[in-house]
Amino acid sequence: MLHYATTVSELKEHFKIRVEIDGTPILVTWLADEVYAIQDRCTHLGASLSKGLVDGHHIKCRSHGAVFDVKTGDLIEKPHLGPLKMPAKQAKTFPIIIKEGSIYIEL
Ligand code: FES
Repeated sequence: MLHYATTVSELKEHFKIRVEIDGTPILVTWLADEVYAIQDRCTHLGASLSKGLVDGHHIKCRSHGAVFDVKTGDLIEKPHLGPLKMPAKQAKTFPIIIKEGSIYIEL
């Protein structure tokens, strides 16, 4: 089912926006003229990825440094405390549809 998320112009202005659809927090990003949606909950301990640092197609969780690919949800770098690496899973991504300047997410 498609759900309205935001407008293209708003996303272009902010580059990343957190939306909540049916209780699911989702990070919507504008990167290199493409739109991506990934769960806005780190798979390590649940911190908001929308507060993370974007680098290319990667977003780094501010809590313990887990890095996710926003295109695929792949875990690129495990979270860590100093040299100690900790487990985390791949993040869920969502299909996007852009129609008449509005962005919709399929849940
Ligand atoms: S909560 Fe994101 S790395 Fe720990």
